[in-house]
Amino acid sequence: MKVLVIGSGGREHALVWKLRQSPRVSQVYCAPGNGGIAAEAECLPVDVKRVESLTALADRLKPDLTVVGPELPLSLGMVDEFTRRGWKTFGPTRAAAQLESSKSFAKEFMQRHHIPTAHYAICKSLEDVRDALPHFHLPVVAKADGLAAGKGVVICKTKEEATAVAGEMLSGKMLGEAGASLVLEECLQGDELSFLVLSDGERVAPLVAAQDHKRVGDGDTGPNTGGMGAYSTSAMVDDQMQNWLLQHIARPVVEGMKAEGAEYKGVLYCGLMMTAKGPMVLEFNCRFGDPETQPVLMRLESDLMEALEASIEGRVSEGDFRWSQDASVCVVMASGGYPGTFEAGKRISGLADAEKVGGVKVFHAGTTQHDNAYFTAGGRVLGVTAKAAELKSAVDRAYEAVGKIKFDGVHYRKDIAARALKK
Ligand code: AMP
Ligand code: GLY
Repeated sequence: MKVLVIGSGGREHALVWKLRQSPRVSQVYCAPGNGGIAAEAECLPVDVKRVESLTALADRLKPDLTVVGPELPLSLGMVDEFTRRGWKTFGPTRAAAQLESSKSFAKEFMQRHHIPTAHYAICKSLEDVRDALPHFHLPVVAKADGLAAGKGVVICKTKEEATAVAGEMLSGKMLGEAGASLVLEECLQGDELSFLVLSDGERVAPLVAAQDHKRVGDGDTGPNTGGMGAYSTSAMVDDQMQNWLLQHIARPVVEGMKAEGAEYKGVLYCGLMMTAKGPMVLEFNCRFGDPETQPVLMRLESDLMEALEASIEGRVSEGDFRWSQDASVCVVMASGGYPGTFEAGKRISGLADAEKVGGVKVFHAGTTQHDNAYFTAGGRVLGVTAKAAELKSAVDRAYEAVGKIKFDGVHYRKDIAARALKK
């Protein structure tokens, strides 16, 4: 089978890497891909912001399956269009992707279906914000309604700050259309957990859980990013907790979407806060996580292709995945300045040496390749990922590999999975 993966980040590199291991996959394309992906798949240009561009590409390549990495094409209705043409495509429709593309849709959906989430108010004007604020304790969280690539959430310490942030969002200054309305939300405390399930519209199969590190700095300091690293172990979620999450969150979401006429097929990413009162949903994403996919797929022992097809064909069962008991960890190496402005085009050295470290795979997130060398081409540049029997060894391996890679301005967190190691 020929498979086309849409996207250009570390998540897509991991998807390409895993799909190539399937005995049923004969060729993998990636569009637009990146420098590192090009070593493993034929990369082709595409504009992921335009469904017509994606359709034209698939019409030319005629893949047997298209796998969509990022949320934007999903929210634009790419799967609807591909499915209308009879093309096999992995991911939710535009209506189902609203769980990610509209925070207010997601919050109201959760309320309708009794899914645990923080107390909230939807605000379309500053007047709404002023009316709602007295009902919240501090700090209060302000979230832009639309897609904002991880930059649409601000935790506000005072009501004045919340009003100012809301004003910036509503005026369109901060995030354009994405901030045209916003959600105010109670601030939750606890450990975050990324719990993903595969869905065929009716049934779900859990993936192993992972923990992302969203803040740019060690000790969870500094601004939010797309994710600076993640790890996954079998101890993160025991069977009892997994059953609870399936019963109270994943299944009610999939059943609720079906009942509302927007069947959810694909992976459903439940971003959770494990609070003292139990798990609560912070957000849904309608796709694989980045960087969570890198450590999660490293632990997958069964055929990813089979699982994706089961989702499309309506035959997902809980045993669809077989996982390694090993732990895995991904450390993101980022460009100087990220998540703010950064320069691209820095030469990367040491990649071959890094991959010689046992159990390590370097996934490329933002790179280009020319003149026999790799250069930086994005904020998040590499996801250095390692697997080992114990989390400690996986972390040591990842950082040993990280130590071999150099580029101008590079920065990375030194404490990925450190909290889990202390426990
Ligand atoms: P979201 O885009 O909703 O996942 O938010 C991005 C990040 O903001 C989350 O991963 C959390 O770290 C933080 N966050 C979002 N909502 C809350 C909340 N209600 N309480 C505390 N932190 C939150
Ligand atoms: N790592 C967070 C996300 O994929 O949205």
